[in-house]
Amino acid sequence: MKILLIGSGGREHVIAEAIARSRRDPELYAVMSRKNPGTAGLCKEFLIADESVDSVLPYARSKGIDVAVIGPEAPLALGLADALEDEGIPCLGPRLAPAQIELDKAWARMFMRRHGISGCPAFEVFEAGDFEGAHAFIEKLGDVAVKPTGLTGGKGVKVMGDHFEIKGAKEYTSELLRTGSVVIEENLKGEEFTVQAFSDGKTLAFAPAVQDHKRAYDGDKGPNTGGMGSYTDAGNILPFMREADYEEAKAIMRDTIKSIKEDVGAYKGILYGQFMITAKGIKVIEFNARFGDPEVMNILPLLRTDFVDILSAVADETLFDLNVEFTRLATVCKYAVPAGYPENPVKDTVVEIGDIGDATFFYSSVYEQDGVVYTTGSRAIAVVGASQTIAEAEKIASHGLAGIHGDLVARSDIGTAALIDKRIRHAAEMRGS
Ligand code: AMP
Ligand code: GLY
Repeated sequence: MKILLIGSGGREHVIAEAIARSRRDPELYAVMSRKNPGTAGLCKEFLIADESVDSVLPYARSKGIDVAVIGPEAPLALGLADALEDEGIPCLGPRLAPAQIELDKAWARMFMRRHGISGCPAFEVFEAGDFEGAHAFIEKLGDVAVKPTGLTGGKGVKVMGDHFEIKGAKEYTSELLRTGSVVIEENLKGEEFTVQAFSDGKTLAFAPAVQDHKRAYDGDKGPNTGGMGSYTDAGNILPFMREADYEEAKAIMRDTIKSIKEDVGAYKGILYGQFMITAKGIKVIEFNARFGDPEVMNILPLLRTDFVDILSAVADETLFDLNVEFTRLATVCKYAVPAGYPENPVKDTVVEIGDIGDATFFYSSVYEQDGVVYTTGSRAIAVVGASQTIAEAEKIASHGLAGIHGDLVARSDIGTAALIDKRIRHAAEMRGS
């Protein structure tokens, strides 16, 4: 079996490792925009090129690829899954129409409303130029999150309290409405968790719940980032969750897949649901059409089922027939990021991997040149500890971090008892207990 992996980040290094563990002895190929040394080392061959249809399709043809795995969302937005599948190459990664669940936040919310999918916050979509309507709705809700609907060129979701107050929310909305449409929604308060699942369009195979840490510095301070680290417990739920929260999240994701199929066709790929436990129950923050980074680092290393069997089952729509299992261990992932990240990160500095003990690591936004690994300015190396308890996994990850050398920093509090107790108290407060 010849597998093509698209993407150059940490997510793809983790996926490459899962493929390399397969008992079916697959041949791995990759197309990546820069040379990720982790992924490169696991490939039979790779191409350094942009992750566009024009680069990937001829390469896939020339290598006789059987199945493709599309890691990031950008190539999904270019219709790469459509192009490959139309050539007879099945993909883990949805076609353009179902991928709208991530690519267009207005589409995602309208879709939830149309199908009565549970967990949708109060929201409205405003078209470019509708300043009055948007401002009136901000006044009405009083406390809002502002989301540009399409590709944003660095301008993303902003939330009142975190980024601005009501005046700032209106200003930001006006700025966005000059060029595009905007979703205004109720500002949800609570404790967040992520559930990731494989989908063949009909059946979902779920991974354990993960919690990411968006803020740059200890104590959830500082600017938002791509995610500084994440953890899982030795089971499907996190210490602040109830079994019913996980079941409800799964039911929402199942409804989503079913309704997407009715609307725009089968969703074949990874469905990532980000949820919040609020005073009014489980709410959906957003869906993504790919694994989370870092959330994938917590789950794929523990995947017991052969990844290549999953790829076959997704292609054949037989996921119902496959038992997708994860080893029951707690994990803690911590990201080593360039000093100054995310606002003024150092770039092109050398990274060296020393003794990381029992931890494992994944290369993320780094590149290799002449055998030396350099930072890009984004998150560099993910270090993962796995053990019976979160506390033990945290110790392994922290010890591992000490073995990663370079002009790098990391959060020290992710996975610690103090931070987890804070999450437990917060979730309990939300539930009014
Ligand atoms: P995104 O850029 O889409 O990943 O969203 C960034 C972050 O914004 C999410 O991780 C949430 O923490 C936050 N967020 C998104 N929507 C809401 C909402 N309706 N209420 C509160 N926070 C939100
Ligand atoms: N860690 C959040 C994401 O991958 O979108």
